[in-house]
Amino acid sequence: MNLTDSVLVPLLIFTFLSSVQCELLTFGIVGLAGSLGYYVYDRYKCDYNECCIHEYIPADLDRLETMLSTKLFGQQIARETIINALKDHRGNHDSPKALVMSFHGTPGTGKNYVVQMIAQAYYKNGVQSKYFHFFNGRNTFPLQRKVDEYKEELQKIITASLIECKESIFVFDEVDKMPEGLLNVLVPFLDYNTYHKSSKGEIVHQNKSIFIFLSNTGSSQIVQTLTNLWERGKKRDDMRLQDFEKLIADGAFNEKGGFYHSDTIQTSVIDHYVPFLPLEERHVKKCLARAFTERGSVPNQEMIEEALSHLTFGPEPYNLYSMAGCKRIEQKVAMILYRKQSELKAND
Ligand SMILES: Nc1ncnc2c1ncn2[C@@H]1O[C@H](COP(=O)(O)OP(=O)(O)OP(=O)(O)O)[C@@H](O)[C@H]1O
Ligand SMILES: [Mg+2]
Repeated sequence: MNLTDSVLVPLLIFTFLSSVQCELLTFGIVGLAGSLGYYVYDRYKCDYNECCIHEYIPADLDRLETMLSTKLFGQQIARETIINALKDHRGNHDSPKALVMSFHGTPGTGKNYVVQMIAQAYYKNGVQSKYFHFFNGRNTFPLQRKVDEYKEELQKIITASLIECKESIFVFDEVDKMPEGLLNVLVPFLDYNTYHKSSKGEIVHQNKSIFIFLSNTGSSQIVQTLTNLWERGKKRDDMRLQDFEKLIADGAFNEKGGFYHSDTIQTSVIDHYVPFLPLEERHVKKCLARAFTERGSVPNQEMIEEALSHLTFGPEPYNLYSMAGCKRIEQKVAMILYRKQSELKAND
């Protein structure tokens, strides 16, 4: 053995072994850091990001009840029906299906307002929660000819959302402006099943979710019935859900739009048809008083009367109900206050 062999070979072997050891050590450290990082992320991710856990989904129905009792005027049937339905669904751990409610009524009677309150009570992040999904019939699904595309899209969104969180809420606003047939794609999600399998074989749990439809369909039937009952001397507070439920379902089913001759209704997957009654002057006055107060002003009789004069009441001959409910009242109030301030400045 010459000198090269006896010195260089062991040196080469040593260098090789050290470098392997070094690599292994590096891998080890990187691996450990990675696992630690993942552990820390997994442990604390819900402290900073919304997760599908109780902390982010308190579903505080007592809070909702208080909100509805103090902020929603003239909708005693809707208030009771909604609270009871939510309590029942929430309290039943083996709920046989998703909760499905359909809100009907004339404009400005509180349908979206109530949906916002439900979102606030259910989710820590309210309507901003990633588990709260809002679709507008007119804007999200504008074209009848694209109905098949929309169906596919909607099915994917709902499947993915329910896989991410069972306690998702889906709201479909302006259902009457939706393409006919679109809602049929929802039937498997709304039907009597705790879960179903998607086309890709994924298990989709659906019985903890809530679906809410909003529309003006059935409104004329609601107004007509309310007027008839009023003519017979029945008080608004004595009216019951049964006075309206059937006729709304029939009205919705036969009016043009998303519900028109729809499987969603035919298969009876809608649990509650909720009437939102047209608002009378006394209710609108409460909305006005609130709008003035929120702007830091205490309204006098004259201011309330002026605001009321901008609203239309109908239908003939009794003109009992505000045609736009409490909608856009803030703008009227702002206008009156602005004019008052301008007058004060002019007199200074
Ligand atoms: N019953 C009510 N009690 C108190 N405030 C109400 C009521 N209804 C409506 N409002 C007020 O009017 C605003 C508009 O109402 P909302 O958007 O809920 O009407 P809507 O029933 O959804 O009408 P549309 O059918 O036109 O969509 C609400 O944000 C709320 O401030
Ligand atoms: Mg609305």
